[in-house]
Amino acid sequence: MLTKEDKAKYGKELNILKLNMEKEIDNIRVELKKKRINQKLKAEKIDISLPERPYLNGKIHPISRALDEIISILGQLSFEVCKGPHIENDYNNFTALNISENHPARQDHDTFYFNNSKTLLRTHTSPVQIRVMKSIKPPIRIIAPGATYRCDDDATHSPMFHQVEGLVVDENINMGHLKHLIKEILTQFFSVKDLPMRFRPSYFPFTEPSAEVDIGCLIKENFLKIGEGSEWLEVLGCGMVNPIVLENCGLDSKRYSGFAFGLGIERFAMLKYQIADLRMFYDNDIKWLDHNSFFPKGFPSTIRGF
Ligand code: PHE
Repeated sequence: MLTKEDKAKYGKELNILKLNMEKEIDNIRVELKKKRINQKLKAEKIDISLPERPYLNGKIHPISRALDEIISILGQLSFEVCKGPHIENDYNNFTALNISENHPARQDHDTFYFNNSKTLLRTHTSPVQIRVMKSIKPPIRIIAPGATYRCDDDATHSPMFHQVEGLVVDENINMGHLKHLIKEILTQFFSVKDLPMRFRPSYFPFTEPSAEVDIGCLIKENFLKIGEGSEWLEVLGCGMVNPIVLENCGLDSKRYSGFAFGLGIERFAMLKYQIADLRMFYDNDIKWLDHNSFFPKGFPSTIRGF
């Protein structure tokens, strides 16, 4: 036991010792911190003699651009965008669209089948018509953009390509409505006023009557001008929805009528942007892409240096 005096004496000394120790610890902490910062500065030193990295901007692929334009034209005409699966059953892709098992159109489509041959990669966007008509009641006013697949590969065909399907079903829909809409889409997309257009009778099992639409153009060697000249170029297929298809979807064909159309985006993009070989779209040649792609809307496409 310490006496009262000893307690005071030792207490004072111990306090001084404690303060000194704290000071020492603080000093060491500051030193360590300094050391750490210096090490970091050394390790993360920026070599300002290195050249800067090239600044690469992504651009919009011509297929995406053409798709966006078609969607925006039809969106403004109050069409709703719908999606269906790329892996379809053969009922939606063929049977419900009035393409029976032994119908020649089944062979025409060069279908990619899965092992069970009841499942396939959709050969067109028309099966989305079936899905929509089975799930919503008229009035129906939709478009279905997306990829489609056929076992085909040359300068104008790719095994994967894009279509935009259109479908309108209501009471009293007639071919005049279809013609007016197609004219609107084509004149807006190709930005040509009074674009020459003709409806040529055709055949699709799911539309009756059916037509293919051609636009007037001038073709000279490697040069193509839309809206001029005396040649015709086929751009899309369309027609009045076959009553059999309406009934297959549970819609009363005496009450309702409709029209449908299907257009190929690659073809639209090739015509509008003057691209001769469809395979270039998917070759991923960076120089070609840079030349043929688009700046996003609103992006300054020219930068002036002073
Ligand atoms: N599905 C047809 C095709 O791929 C196009 C089409 C769609 C025709 C709708 C008429 C109506 O060729």
